[in-house]
Amino acid sequence: MLEAVLLVGGQGTRLRPLTVTTPKPMLPVAGVPCTEHQIARAREAGVTRVVLGTSYRPEVFLDYFGDGSRFGVELVYATEDVPLGTGGAIRHVAPHLLSGPDDPVLVFNGDILSGHDIAGQVQAWRDSSSDVSLYLTRVEDPRAYGLVPTDADGRVTQFLEKPSTPEEIVTDQINAGCYVFRRSVIDSIPTGRPVSVERETFPGLLARGAVVTGFVDDGYWLDLGTPLAFVQGSCDLVLGRAPSPALPGRTGQFLVRPGAEVEPDAILSNGTFVGAGATVGSGAVVDGSSLFDNAMVAAGAYVKDSVIGSGAIIGSGARLDGVVVGDRAVIGPGNELVRGARVWPGVALSETSVRFSSDR
Ligand code: GDD
Ligand code: MG
Repeated sequence: MLEAVLLVGGQGTRLRPLTVTTPKPMLPVAGVPCTEHQIARAREAGVTRVVLGTSYRPEVFLDYFGDGSRFGVELVYATEDVPLGTGGAIRHVAPHLLSGPDDPVLVFNGDILSGHDIAGQVQAWRDSSSDVSLYLTRVEDPRAYGLVPTDADGRVTQFLEKPSTPEEIVTDQINAGCYVFRRSVIDSIPTGRPVSVERETFPGLLARGAVVTGFVDDGYWLDLGTPLAFVQGSCDLVLGRAPSPALPGRTGQFLVRPGAEVEPDAILSNGTFVGAGATVGSGAVVDGSSLFDNAMVAAGAYVKDSVIGSGAIIGSGARLDGVVVGDRAVIGPGNELVRGARVWPGVALSETSVRFSSDR
């Protein structure tokens, strides 16, 4: 038996207004919650039991996943009354784990899409007799992540979470948000108070000389933390760049769910996703975007790199580029919304106007 923990308790503030009612890991990425993509990939790697570490809106997970039987795993929930941070959440699930002290336990950040070799990481953890193995990837700009330099033997030498000074940018290798823990290491995290696994647990383990190794994998990886990344992830799944057994259809330039209506002369491209019951009118162009269920893009509208929430309406001739439209919002005909604009759920923009904001 192989167990996995999914950390899904964050508030997802950078993804507002999409996360006002739905926790970030439950937002549909190509029509399916990120958590479901992760469970499907974990299952493929041999995971049979998953513990969801929830905090923000736990009922949304329970309603959707239930006991996990529909998803081929046994699913249990550990809900924090107050958020305990990443390390605190890992410690908090411990009473729900069945693994023995020396067994491996996988832990995933809940907002990661990855194509990395999960089973290979578990094997590498075994082969190196590690206490913890960290999945690492390389990025151009590592500053928004945990920096994780390793030595010639693959041993982690430092863990620098979101460094603030240029001197700390010592590598382009970052923590990609999937760990294999020796079960007993989880039990050694303090209880009853917030703990950051990145700022406290990993540096503490290194200081004590624990065996912490890096598993570098340059396969597909994306953190879905911002609206732009979220749209990117959806498109990459549809285009087949991000692998997921849970993709609800075939890969290609676009994916249209049953029950959606797309006029024959509308143009869908670059991994656009059209949810069930959504409509795209005559001559509309939807480029690299995600339309949630029952969204409507009217005739002649142009939607690029945007997320359109469920039941939202984009009026005829409107132009949107890099925009997040909340559920049931209405963008009147002829409006032009540009990069960074966010429209809150239920808001109606009737007049023609140009709007933007810089808080993305
Ligand atoms: N249960 C629970 N409780 N989950 C939490 C809590 C909490 O208090 N706080 C955060 N999480 C979950 C989030 O839901 C998310 O899935 C995951 O932990 C990571 O939190 P983020 O807020 O997304 O962190 P980040 O993206 O800034 O940084 C983390 O991920 C990077 C890779 O994407 C760090 O682990 C970095 O080191 C890493 O590079
Ligand atoms: Mg994140």
